[in-house]
Amino acid sequence: MTDHQLLALAKDAMKQAYAPYSHFPVGAALLCSDGTVYTGCNVECASYGNSICAERTALCKAVSEGERSFLTLAVIANTDGFCTPCGICRQMLNEFSPDLRVLCANKEGEYAAYSLKELLPHAFSSDDL
Ligand code: THU
Repeated sequence: MTDHQLLALAKDAMKQAYAPYSHFPVGAALLCSDGTVYTGCNVECASYGNSICAERTALCKAVSEGERSFLTLAVIANTDGFCTPCGICRQMLNEFSPDLRVLCANKEGEYAAYSLKELLPHAFSSDDL
């Protein structure tokens, strides 16, 4: 699975976004250590705070199928700049794979690659306490 293939899956998943409130569709594709890919989109709710991001949709789909280890996440939105995961998603991704690679794309499919450690330095871990 190449970065471009994973980004293409994220772009496809963005089509399923349910974003009638923000009008900000997002797609994600998560590559598991065993090679399986789970995709996700954002799903909003009239009670806005209940909405879930594309990244956590993909993560929860994967975890609920028994996956626990992830290599790369691709995220895409219809933006000029690169779409990066929100803080809640970063912390949840860190729960399973602190060494995750994160590909953050724009509407052209151009992207920047980050490590999750770059995006979430000094992540909270109950192990450290
Ligand atoms: N959103 C995501 O799905 N992922 C991100 O990385 C940023 C934000 C969603 C949440 C909400 O449905 C909409 O985008 C606007 O914030």
